[in-house]
Amino acid sequence: MRKINLLVAVLFVTGLSNLQAQERIPEVETLLEKMTLEEKIGQLNLLTPGGGVATGSVVSEDVEAKIKAGNVGGVFGVSSPERVRQAQDIALKNSRLKIPLLIGSDVIHGYKTTFPIPLGLSASWDMELIKETAQIAAKEATADGINWNFSPMVDISRDPRWGRVAEGAGEDPFLGSQIAKAMVEGYQGDNLANPETMISTVKHMALYGASEAGRDYNRVDMSRAKMFNEYLPPYKAAVDAGVASVMTSFNDIDGVPASGNKWLLTDVLRERWGFDGFVVSDYTSVNEMIAHGMGDLQAVSALAINAGLDMDMVGEGFLTTLKKSVDEGKVSEETITTAARRILEAKHKLGLFDDPYRYSDESRPETDILTEENRAKAREAATKSFVLLKKHNNTLPISKNAKIALIGPLANNKNNMLGTWAPTGDQQLSIPILEGFKNVAPNASITYAKGANISDDATFAKKVNVFGPRIEISEESPEQLLKEAMTVVNDADVVVAVVGEASEMSGEAASRTEISIPESQKKLIRELAASGKPVVLVLMSGRPLTIPEEMELPVSILQVWHPGVEAGNAVADVVFGDYNPSGKLTATWPVNVGQIPIYYGMRRTGRPAASEDFEKFKSNYLDAPNAPLLPFGYGLSYTEFEYSNVNVNNSTLAEGGSITISATVRNTGNYDGEEVVQLYTHDKVRSITPPMKELKGFEKIFLKKGESKTVTFEITTEDLKFYNNEEDFIFEPGEFEFFVGGSSDNEFTGSFTVK
Ligand code: BGC
Repeated sequence: MRKINLLVAVLFVTGLSNLQAQERIPEVETLLEKMTLEEKIGQLNLLTPGGGVATGSVVSEDVEAKIKAGNVGGVFGVSSPERVRQAQDIALKNSRLKIPLLIGSDVIHGYKTTFPIPLGLSASWDMELIKETAQIAAKEATADGINWNFSPMVDISRDPRWGRVAEGAGEDPFLGSQIAKAMVEGYQGDNLANPETMISTVKHMALYGASEAGRDYNRVDMSRAKMFNEYLPPYKAAVDAGVASVMTSFNDIDGVPASGNKWLLTDVLRERWGFDGFVVSDYTSVNEMIAHGMGDLQAVSALAINAGLDMDMVGEGFLTTLKKSVDEGKVSEETITTAARRILEAKHKLGLFDDPYRYSDESRPETDILTEENRAKAREAATKSFVLLKKHNNTLPISKNAKIALIGPLANNKNNMLGTWAPTGDQQLSIPILEGFKNVAPNASITYAKGANISDDATFAKKVNVFGPRIEISEESPEQLLKEAMTVVNDADVVVAVVGEASEMSGEAASRTEISIPESQKKLIRELAASGKPVVLVLMSGRPLTIPEEMELPVSILQVWHPGVEAGNAVADVVFGDYNPSGKLTATWPVNVGQIPIYYGMRRTGRPAASEDFEKFKSNYLDAPNAPLLPFGYGLSYTEFEYSNVNVNNSTLAEGGSITISATVRNTGNYDGEEVVQLYTHDKVRSITPPMKELKGFEKIFLKKGESKTVTFEITTEDLKFYNNEEDFIFEPGEFEFFVGGSSDNEFTGSFTVK
């Protein structure tokens, strides 16, 4: 006992934890010893000369001079081996200590090979596939000089008004955690010094997806129990998977903005979760703490570094004020050294000290980027992300010999296929739906008409079009567009209408208060449905939409998100039946905006409504049901699946033990197909109100028609743990209900008791 105390005392005096002491990298320590305070502060700045997306109000000036002066730790918005080599040269040939740069980028859903938007990818429920997309993204981005990626975005969101719901994995902490892990592993591999892997950044820590009223950059307020149980798990999963960097969010938490929140960045992230990488701010989020009301630039910069933020993105508050704060005793030199150490350790992990030009191999772009193989994976990923929302009269799949009217403002459109946050992709290389149809069904007769504008509202279009013409309003009148379309429809056997949101109607700073299909297109859809022809709506969007009217029409509906560079080919693969859709929603689709926030894992109330009929003094609405339009986990297939023999092998579960829950799934329809088999539980009694349902396991299986398989899930008491109000992670004895099914809206069929 005495010995241990002595050791603790020694470590305390030297300011080192045991863990840190063991992990110190001699090369980094030697370098730190040579560095002046100014040079250490220099490492804490991430600048952009403006080649990326400038989401803040500034881009950096005189980047070259600042690199030469040793004032820059990393840059973003710089790509290609040549440009990255030039940037490294500036640091290596001109700065006193010749420290190589981190080269960052937002590679959110693929680099040049653009995969479906992340919300779409999550709907594949295919972790291996998601990991592969991240591996490909890493290989392509590193071939172009990037060594640090600002992804994955793992913000849980239950509010589809928020445009950035497109960038994440939806509403569920369990699924979101699995996806976070898959992406981190895909980007980073098992060795960051491998020039085909890059540092991954989990973002935006934390709770950014809960912005009030679904308005981007708005504030957040929630209980600790909700944070720990529902919102923080995916960030933690990324940390557990070894993510090397974390980006803070724009919002506040308990009234303190994330970038200056010590509880979040030090107590939770480092002390509880053991994170040992570096933390970067979001774009000027340190400076934005001035607008939050936290003080002037010097005060907010000191707040940030003292809270545990290591790197300042673009804002230069660290660069311009930290020295003064050290001189005035507001920030310790030790704190600066610690942050600089973390940046240097990241550079060391990347192997940049051995070879600063590791990511500047001029031969790689040609062989590694946008290869046929990568495009094939993008096509596969897209087909697997699509969710069949509605089947009507077996219209789908369509014969490859049919006479098709291909209608809609998104049917022959290259500007909206990649989706939001695809700045490294090239829209002109994307396959529009019309082209994909011709590729996959060369014998079909396909006639195209636009039919409607994405929106007729020029003011709205102007806001959406900041990055280019996403909504193009035709010179022809809406009536004329509709008339032309109906002429084409009259002559066809079947109608495919590609409708929905332009890509920049979702994403950053793209919140909507109405999340329906724009009225211009609703009119078109009504006319098509009334034509008497079989109609398929191919629906594109970056978020769940409110489509109660369309669900009632005599049409089939295939949700395809924004499918990426292979959009047209992938949509054709599914529409013509080469691939049977298997995606399942990862975010609830509400009936209307008034139901938001709506998600399957809501906690119980004291006055639950027993039915969908209105009941006075129960928790329900006068003018809408409680149930969503489409639940989490929902998605149809061209075939049918039947569940039977849902069993648990033991009715009691004790700590340290395990039980297995199994179900038999049979493909009873006429096509081979895949099904996402989902296990949900419900803790009947616990010390804080339990969610009504919690996803605890899933498996995607392939079944030939007529085939059946038994799927088994193992459950231990670890899987049933939750955070109570004391923030202890515990399970509580008692009865748990469960079901296994193809969607979250099933009834519980079994139970077990935890001792
Ligand atoms: C976004 C981040 C992004 C950063 C750098 C910010 O506005 O919130 O997700 O990584 O810009 O481009």
